[in-house]
Amino acid sequence: MTAAPTIRVAPSLLSADFGRLAEQIALVESAGADLLHLDIMDGHFVPNLSFGVPVVRAISRCTRLLLNAHLMITDPGRYAPAFVEAGAGCVTFHIEVAEDPARLVAQLRELGVMVGVALNPGTPPPAIADIVPEVDLVLVMSVWPGFGGQRFLPESLERISEVAALIDGRQWLEVDGGISPQTAADVVAAGANTLVAGSSVFDTDDPAAAIAALRAAGTRGVARRKAEAEP
Ligand code: DX5
Ligand code: ZN
Repeated sequence: MTAAPTIRVAPSLLSADFGRLAEQIALVESAGADLLHLDIMDGHFVPNLSFGVPVVRAISRCTRLLLNAHLMITDPGRYAPAFVEAGAGCVTFHIEVAEDPARLVAQLRELGVMVGVALNPGTPPPAIADIVPEVDLVLVMSVWPGFGGQRFLPESLERISEVAALIDGRQWLEVDGGISPQTAADVVAAGANTLVAGSSVFDTDDPAAAIAALRAAGTRGVARRKAEAEP
């Protein structure tokens, strides 16, 4: 039994006001965000486009927070170096596009950053079993990727538990999609320790209060997980 993990909150800038990005980043940073989640979409792996390298570079110039590039793109190996050069300190690729995951992880490791692997709602957790020991972070998508503001898929809870059984306690277990103070306690109770949240942080009048509410919900989830683990 490992110690109760710290719950990290990772605001997703996809739902931020892009005209006031620096201001919004400063707000979530002072509210205690642990890292920033940057959704990179290519219009191929997901049916949407977001932002690319120049925006990541601009973001890195206005924060000291770790930047996690969530690469929803078909060729992560090709573009990862540019995102790292622009300031990403963690690169997360999707298992669905990795022909040779071990080779891709080795290639990303050479860039000197944290490496994460993500899986879509339709991908069975055993698909990542071999690569989990090689990565720093596992990202469980709790919506189909491509858009912010979707409803949390309840079947994700079972998938989070399955992934939690694969990790060795060292990796971050991150959940992304539909995370709000209402769903956060459940995903943490299921085994998550890192919460990505876009619309529930930025589509509110008070992003700082939203981060505090997510953290409080996460703490309740840790307590529930502990209680459930007791004989
Ligand atoms: C979806 C992205 C998410 C998204 C989350 O494709 O990967 O990171 O921004 O947004 P919410 O929290 O609104 O579901
Ligand atoms: Zn994301």
